[in-house]
Amino acid sequence: MQTLVLPLKPDTAAAIARAAEVLRAGEVAAFPTETVYGLGANGLNAEAVEKIFTAKGRPSDNPLILHIEKTEDILPLVSDFPPKAQRLAEAFWPGPLTLVLPKSDLVPGIVTAGLNTVAVRCPKSETARALIRACCFPIAAPSANASGRPSPTRAEHVLSDLAGKIPLILDGGACEGGVESTVLALSPAPTLLRPGLVTREMLEGVLNEPVAVHEAVLAESIGDAPSPGMKHTHYAPSAEVYVVSGETLAEMAGKINEYCDEFAQKGRKCTIFATEQTQTFYFSRNYVIMGDRNKPKTICAHLFALLRGAEGAGFDVIFIEAVKAEGEGLAFMNRALRSAGFKFI
Ligand code: TXA
Ligand code: MG
Repeated sequence: MQTLVLPLKPDTAAAIARAAEVLRAGEVAAFPTETVYGLGANGLNAEAVEKIFTAKGRPSDNPLILHIEKTEDILPLVSDFPPKAQRLAEAFWPGPLTLVLPKSDLVPGIVTAGLNTVAVRCPKSETARALIRACCFPIAAPSANASGRPSPTRAEHVLSDLAGKIPLILDGGACEGGVESTVLALSPAPTLLRPGLVTREMLEGVLNEPVAVHEAVLAESIGDAPSPGMKHTHYAPSAEVYVVSGETLAEMAGKINEYCDEFAQKGRKCTIFATEQTQTFYFSRNYVIMGDRNKPKTICAHLFALLRGAEGAGFDVIFIEAVKAEGEGLAFMNRALRSAGFKFI
């Protein structure tokens, strides 16, 4: 299969109409959202959804998110839309928040991997919403990477993983967010299954009650995870990745420099994912700057692209600086730790 990369500009309406045509024909297409690129299919058509799993090589027990154009479109998809969910939708939709709610009979079992809940989000991206509008059905879409690879934040990343496996990629440039949406379960109590740019603190501010963080967010999950995605390896680049912390920035950088020397002696090519505040510690070494550690949103935006870049540049070992696991920093630490297979030093 030939994969067409179709730029959104200059003729955005024509590009979206073309992608909608592909989706309406029961095929898959990749498209940008404000978080990462998604691989979409008609979320009410089991046969179309199956093509997502095939193209990505995704395990069939990992359910998908249904994307809707506006809040009221959730009603046919869920059997209950409780007041708490309504408040959150009002505060954060359209935006990078996914709500897990009891599913209705309309949602095919393949979308939810047989669970009785369904994950729904209304994306902020104008492109994504225009596409859903043009299709007139909810779009099921996981991140548009091959299963086990970092999520794609540019059309090139999608192409490098899925060329020849999907017919179309809408190219809207780099995604602003860079990490996938926050996934929140509401029952029995509000619990963060995946942190994102709608932060725990923001959710608590609207709900007026504590939001739990599932233990699998910052540690390797054992046994039954509540979000099937948690038990699958994620964001794994081919290089060996370590997340490094320290009492102070100097201590953290000192540790990283020591490890770099140790690995270099064994002939391993190392690079460091630093922050604006720490770059001077790594003079004469290979490093990239992820962003400003006081604005964790800026480092979230670049992590996945940098992981792919380091891998492409042939580095064997990547040291990622830790940040405080609060605010958007929780989303960053979750993705960094997962890409490291939870190797934390
Ligand atoms: O930002 C995003 O959410 C992107 C864009 C494309 O919208 N999508 C995305 O989808 O990241 P995906 O499939 O890569 O991640 C969906 C996560 C998985 O960890 C999955 O296990 C979880 O949501 N999930 C889906 N349905 C669920 C359910 N019913 N209960 C618990 N977790 C669920
Ligand atoms: Mg994914």
